Amino acid sequence: MEARLNELEQMAKNEIQEANSSDQLEKVRVKYLGKKGELTEVLRGMGSLSSEERPLVGKVANIVRENIENYLLEAKNSIKSKELEAKLSTEAIDVTMPGRKTNLGKKHPLIQGMDELKNIFISMGFQVAQGPEVETVYYNFDALNAPANHPSRDMSDTFYINEETILRTQTSPVQARVMEKRKPPIRIISPGRCFRNDTPDATHSPMFHQLEGLVVDKGITLADLKGTLEVFTKYFFGSQTKIKFRPHNFPFTEPSAEIDASCFKCSGSGCSFCKGSGWIELLGAGMVHPNVLRNCGIDPEVYSGFAFGMGIDRLVMLKYGVDDIRLFFENDMRFLNQF
Ligand code: DAH
Repeated sequence: MEARLNELEQMAKNEIQEANSSDQLEKVRVKYLGKKGELTEVLRGMGSLSSEERPLVGKVANIVRENIENYLLEAKNSIKSKELEAKLSTEAIDVTMPGRKTNLGKKHPLIQGMDELKNIFISMGFQVAQGPEVETVYYNFDALNAPANHPSRDMSDTFYINEETILRTQTSPVQARVMEKRKPPIRIISPGRCFRNDTPDATHSPMFHQLEGLVVDKGITLADLKGTLEVFTKYFFGSQTKIKFRPHNFPFTEPSAEIDASCFKCSGSGCSFCKGSGWIELLGAGMVHPNVLRNCGIDPEVYSGFAFGMGIDRLVMLKYGVDDIRLFFENDMRFLNQF
């Protein structure tokens, strides 16, 4: 029996040496030391031994078991470190490799333009007000003194949702909403989306952006409007910019004007950009019509105000030389990345 034990030890030793993975090693362990393993089998046969032989064989069996366990342990450690080395070498990080670049998004040119406009007016003490894009006919037209037969009310100009509800055609309804809720002094701007039933072309888009301005207080005059717009245009287009007022008509202002800026390309001498006139049409403005003040619960005998409205898309196009408004809405990165 002793001989058999030594033989087993030798066999196990050989197999352990040949094993080259943790799995193989475990198989060897089970084969010799497991519940149904070879060594266990031999020990089970010890019952048939004489009482003198039993302790001797038992001693040898224990030594053999210990030896096999030691071989296993040694092999296990060396296999583990080999496996770890192999794993590390496949997972090696080459610190000299260039990193993967994550593309950072940025603001759309129109939002950049809107932010710039907002900042200019905020620096002059204006607050930003918001109004709904889905608007009522009342706020978009009636409250703003638009006569019942005004052409802009036509379905060919305005998107109607139903008889009383439309997509706002201008940011001007925010004026009425603000005046209804707040008492003067009022000094707000309101940037946002507007919608008109227009066929898209280089200068028209059914969805576009405006920035509305409104100031109401005691003693507000046309001089305040002029001063405000002059400061604005100098900030936005450069300090040499001049403006001029051309008489115009809007239902919600009296008097009304269209404001032109001296061409910032040719400084007013005339070029292809300003079609030779030296002037560029910028925005609409005027003194708030007494009817509008009255419609919104403000006494025109006590208060007066001015208002203005500008196309943000158009201003950004002018400033950056964009020749087609549709470029803003096509999401072509070759265009957007230029801003
Ligand atoms: N809402 C006008 C438009 O869409 C622009 C405008 C003109 C706004 C004069 C105003 C204003 O507040 O006073 O054409």
